Amino acid sequence: MSAPLPANARGLAVSPVSFQVPPPVEAEVDELISHYPQKRSASLMVLHELQEHFGCISKEAIEWTAAKLGLQAINVYEVVTFYPMFRQDPVGKHQLKVCRTLSCALGGAYQLRDYLCQKLGLDPHAHGIQTTKDKKFSVEFVECLASCGTAPVMMCNGDFYEGVSLEKADEIVAKCP
Ligand code: FES
Repeated sequence: MSAPLPANARGLAVSPVSFQVPPPVEAEVDELISHYPQKRSASLMVLHELQEHFGCISKEAIEWTAAKLGLQAINVYEVVTFYPMFRQDPVGKHQLKVCRTLSCALGGAYQLRDYLCQKLGLDPHAHGIQTTKDKKFSVEFVECLASCGTAPVMMCNGDFYEGVSLEKADEIVAKCP
């Protein structure tokens, strides 16, 4: 059993009892851990697995991961807050990621992201990931998606789109159930 997080400093007092990891996800986590000589070395991979399943890393997931890896919850919290790819807040059902690195920026990525935000009722001037009130969509900028020659590029969940015009963005959004 891991020690509780310092709630006074982090606001992270939790009740892990309510947190349930489905058996197939836990089996995958166990498989990942088995690849490392020390359990703690699997921290990043375990967190990626949990984020993929739950959409973010909650306080409960931090506690669960710490217990699983024989760490203190604060150790896992530090990993989650250090790496920008980990999210602590829930995201939308459909995640729209627009590349903002140089080629895409020059190719219209900022107009594309603004357009998506306005279309979905989000603030185009806000920083960071934004999620619609109905939790259907999240929009965020990401760094280079390795297709600089076909800018601007974006992802919708696991699908990759190149040369995305505003019209194409409409089609991408319309396809999301
Ligand atoms: S700059 Fe956008 S994919 Fe590389």
